[in-house]
Amino acid sequence: MNDGYMPLTTRLLTLETWPDFSAVVEANNGVWGGCWCMAFHPEGVGPGHSVEGNREAKRQHVENRTVRQVLVYDDDICVGWCQFGRPVELPNIKNLRTYEKGDEGPPDWRIGCVFTNPKHRETGVAAAAVAAALEHIASLGGGIVEAYPEQTEDRPEQRGAYLHTGPEALFEKYNFTRVRKIAKWRWVVRAHITAT
Ligand SMILES: CC(C)(COP(=O)(O)OP(=O)(O)OC[C@H]1O[C@@H](n2cnc3c(N)ncnc32)[C@H](O)[C@@H]1OP(=O)(O)O)[C@@H](O)C(=O)NCCC(=O)NCCS
Repeated sequence: MNDGYMPLTTRLLTLETWPDFSAVVEANNGVWGGCWCMAFHPEGVGPGHSVEGNREAKRQHVENRTVRQVLVYDDDICVGWCQFGRPVELPNIKNLRTYEKGDEGPPDWRIGCVFTNPKHRETGVAAAAVAAALEHIASLGGGIVEAYPEQTEDRPEQRGAYLHTGPEALFEKYNFTRVRKIAKWRWVVRAHITAT
């Protein structure tokens, strides 16, 4: 747990940081029973996909440099991440059918999976991950960034484990505002990020 003495730092997921990412995924049983953070990638997860296949597919994206993902470190331990990418790189968002009924046009970027190791939750890990992802997006030209978080206000308290796409508060911190609802508790939110 981050005790305030060691600030959180961030690095991108690359072949060099793959062992750090693998360690936190393996410590969490592959995440959601073995998705290996593949759900938003073009291959997706679910029927026809094995845990080992998901791991290999993720590793292949890292080798091919077709993944953009910020890892957060507490000291030298990877404790969470935020994936981001162009819509074509991350086509498999939740509630896709409802999403596609919208007419606001595609964003330039989207935030995919956010995950924090359970022992490190509610200590600012996801906030650090999203902040770093937005900095990368700014350095890559900026534009409209979309995320698909869960409403937590006016709703019984939710454990972090159920907030698959992050809580809305995580994105409000970075000036994302609601565009429209795509599920009972899930919203499309957008922010405009200026190029740096
Ligand atoms: C959702 C999740 C990413 C949040 O990560 P975190 O590191 O605990 O979040 P942070 O500490 O950075 O908090 C950021 C903001 O979100 C809010 N938040 C965090 N957990 C929350 C919860 N359970 N309910 C409501 N708000 C919450 C915080 O209050 C904070 O806002 P604030 O600064 O205004 O108070 C984490 O609980 C998680 O990993 N859950 C599982 C997600 C998952 O399954 N990912 C794989 C998807 S396929």
